Formats: sequence, C-alpha cells, structure tokens
Amino acid sequence: KAFFDHQVVVFRNQKITPEQQIAFTRRFGVLEQHVRKEHRLEGYPEILIVSNVLNDQGKAIGVEDAGRFWHSDLSYKQTPSLLSALYALEVPVKDGVVLGHTSFSSTTAAYDALPEAMKKKLAGLKNVHSYVYYRNQNIQAQKAEQAQGDRVIQEHVLTPEHLAQVPDAEMPIVRTHPVTGKKGLFINEAHTSHIAGLPRAEGDKLLKEICQHIIKPEFRYEHQWQAGDLLMWDNVALQHKANFDYRLPLRRVMHRTTVRGTAPF
Ligand code: SIN
Repeated sequence: KAFFDHQVVVFRNQKITPEQQIAFTRRFGVLEQHVRKEHRLEGYPEILIVSNVLNDQGKAIGVEDAGRFWHSDLSYKQTPSLLSALYALEVPVKDGVVLGHTSFSSTTAAYDALPEAMKKKLAGLKNVHSYVYYRNQNIQAQKAEQAQGDRVIQEHVLTPEHLAQVPDAEMPIVRTHPVTGKKGLFINEAHTSHIAGLPRAEGDKLLKEICQHIIKPEFRYEHQWQAGDLLMWDNVALQHKANFDYRLPLRRVMHRTTVRGTAPF
C-alpha cells in the first residue's frame, strides 16, 4: 500500500544478494528478462546490470546509458512494466558530493493538473511506443557526445531476434492504473515515436507539450543515492531519468529487477 500510495520508496542500508533481490521483487509479480542479454547478470537473467564500469577486455559490464531520456521502463512492450527495483552496489562520489541522481516525475499528478479541455482532448488518443525509435535516438545522442570528445559507448546492434521481441505498441495516452485506479499520462520522450491518428506536425507538437508538462518541477522527486539503497518505483504512475554527471574512474554499479505489468487501458 505504501508503495502504490507514494510511487517511489527506498530501503536504505541493504546488503542483499541477487537471489534476495529476485525473491523480494518477485513478490510483486512476474520478473522480466531484458532484451539486452549481454547485460544480464551471469546466472541471474532477471537482473539487468546498469553501470558505467568496463571489464578487462574494455567491454561495458552493463547498460551504460540506461535512462538517458525521460521514460517508463519497458513502456514499448505490449505488457509494460508495473514497477522496477534498483539496488545500488557502487555510487559515484566526487569531493564528498554524490553524483548520478535519478529523477522521477509523477504522471498521475501531471494528469490531475491538466486543464479539463486538455483532458478531453487526450481521452481516447493513442501513442506509439517503439524500442527501435528509442535505440535510434540513443545512437544519435551517443554520436553527438562522441563528436564532442565525450565518452564512447559501445553500440548495441539490434538483431532480427531483438526486433521480433519488441514490435511497436499502440498505447492509450491517458492510462488507468491497474492497482490504484488513478489516471496518468502514458507517453514519454524516450519511447513515444508519434501520436496515432493525428497529422505528424500536430501530433509532434502535442507530444512535446505533454512531455514538457509531465516533468514540471512540482511533479518531481530527485533521488540522491547511497550504496545499499534499494529503490522501487511505479512505472505506471511515474517517469524517470538518469543523470550522467560522472565519468570513470568514478564507478556506478546498479542491479535492476523489473516486474511485468498488464496491458494498458
Ligand atoms: C533506469 O532508467 O532504469 C536506470 C536509472 C538510473 O540508472 O538512474
């Protein structure tokens, strides 16, 4: 109840094994196995490693750029995630200042604050969530960073096997939470390629307007990590974004489990 009331909860000072993280989060539902197999923890396919650390061969041990854009985890799946749990093993600290915060924004609070006319306009409209669109955006952002001499991120090639697992999904923009019954905005800058049924320019303008509304400061919480935090968030009621304000040799190592949700309505 506390989890669904608050949308983000944190358990501090945890010392848990991968088995314990899996067993705990499994109590909330079925766990997903991420499409990026190479970044699953060996022996624990339900755990996705989120990290900037490289192995002895110079290869990333986890997803290096998870959460670059505002998103809700796995929103491009036919049954998007209900919740995620991220366990912090190592957190970057520079001169006593913790870096790599995660920002959250409540899509239910953002919906409630919309003018009635906008609520009416959005009712019944759908948006297309696309993993391919998301990867292309990420690759463009990586190329722009590399052109400025910034960190080089290893490119993740989408094979036909990946693509078959993540076809585009059409979702209602206004979504009812399956547990709380609250309405929220299920549209995000990372995964939404376009609004269905509207001329492209009009749809893109509306998409931008709603995405900017959702992340207004009054709907936000920013989590400052401590090693040992187990942070859980509601993927139906929130969007989140990572902050990449740290670089190696500052290390950040996180283990993520993700609980499957239900088809949006
Ligand atoms: C994520 O988007 O799941 C990761 C967020 C983070 O690493 O801060």
